[in-house]
Amino acid sequence: MNKRDRTKVFMAGLLIALTGVFAGGAWAGISATKHNLSNGGPGTIKGDGTEICIFCHTPHDAIKTANIPLWNKQLSALNISYGVYTSPTLNATDVTDVKMITAADATVTNLCLSCHDGTVAINSFNNPSNLETVPVMVGTTAGKLPVGNSNLGTDLTNDHPVNFTYDQTLADADKFLTAPASLVGVKLFSNKVQCASCHDPHLSTNGAFLRVSMSGSALCLSCHTK
Ligand code: HEC
Ligand code: HEC
Ligand code: HEC
Ligand code: HEC
Repeated sequence: MNKRDRTKVFMAGLLIALTGVFAGGAWAGISATKHNLSNGGPGTIKGDGTEICIFCHTPHDAIKTANIPLWNKQLSALNISYGVYTSPTLNATDVTDVKMITAADATVTNLCLSCHDGTVAINSFNNPSNLETVPVMVGTTAGKLPVGNSNLGTDLTNDHPVNFTYDQTLADADKFLTAPASLVGVKLFSNKVQCASCHDPHLSTNGAFLRVSMSGSALCLSCHTK
């Protein structure tokens, strides 16, 4: 093997190694999940375009009342009253209706519900791409999430509570909650529990976009020291 051939072999090897690295990165992220709604996505619900992020984010002209983080997906009607979980043993006092009324009230939960309450078409963007036409969706019901597990509907009274403050006062009152400053893996948003406290919409590693695995109910045990 002359020097030039050795260089070629080395370059080919490097390319294979790098491809492995990039493929590894991609598989740990959103492209391997049902939130990859491009034509290359693994789910049954998807569009015929190639862009992935556009279903939720845009670099320009994001929805101003919910520019957390550069949001592109049309939100659900502001007059929907989702209702909230109640229970006689609940210590959380500020479990309030999930509604997006003003910029101050925009929550990550409203972002999820813009698709998962089943009321708005998945491909209704605030700022469509200038590079591709608006994707035509398959697997939807009139463009919306079909009835099924993923469609939570507008009744959240039978779901784990969201949109309430999880602070040290609550942890003390409950007695079986991790101190909020010591939480690992899960995430609070302005000290509140939201959909994205348990889920990371980009993450493929734990299934169901969970931030912590449900093996041994680890996710639940991150907050509840039962
Ligand atoms: C199905 C909807 C959805 C898609 C598709 C999506 N995201 Fe997100 N993204 C969200 C939501 C909701 C949040 C806020 C929740 C959070 O911060 O964990 C977020 C937050 C972010 C953030 C800021 C917070 C952080 O964790 O750093 C970045 C950056 C981001 N996304 C980048 C991307 C990129 C890049 C893509 C495309 C490869 C993408 N997202 C695709 C829903 C989505
Ligand atoms: C742009 C629309 C859109 C947004 C916004 C969105 N999702 Fe989804 N999500 C989907 C679609 C489509 C599916 C696939 C549903 C199916 O196949 O039945 C899905 C599936 C899921 C699943 C099931 C995954 C599985 O493996 O079965 C979970 C969990 C989920 N989403 C959580 C969230 C959470 C939490 C948020 C907000 C942080 C969010 N989604 C935001 C469109 C969206
Ligand atoms: C306290 C943690 C937690 C919160 C908060 C939470 N989820 Fe989930 N979610 C889970 C777990 C765990 C699963 C997997 C359940 C299973 O496998 O049956 C799940 C499953 C799902 C699924 C898949 C369908 C299903 O029923 O299994 C969707 C869609 C979903 N969540 C959306 C949401 C949305 C939207 C919100 C906010 C309104 C939310 N989640 C809030 C923990 C949570
Ligand atoms: C991000 C932290 C967090 C995660 C993860 C979490 N929870 Fe919770 N959960 C809370 C908080 C905080 C409350 C409110 C407790 C209170 O008011 O005393 C709560 C409330 C509840 C309640 C209602 C208690 C009542 O008195 O009515 C139940 C039951 C519950 N969680 C079960 C679960 C299960 C099961 C899981 C795993 C699938 C889970 N939680 C995951 C933080 C979390």
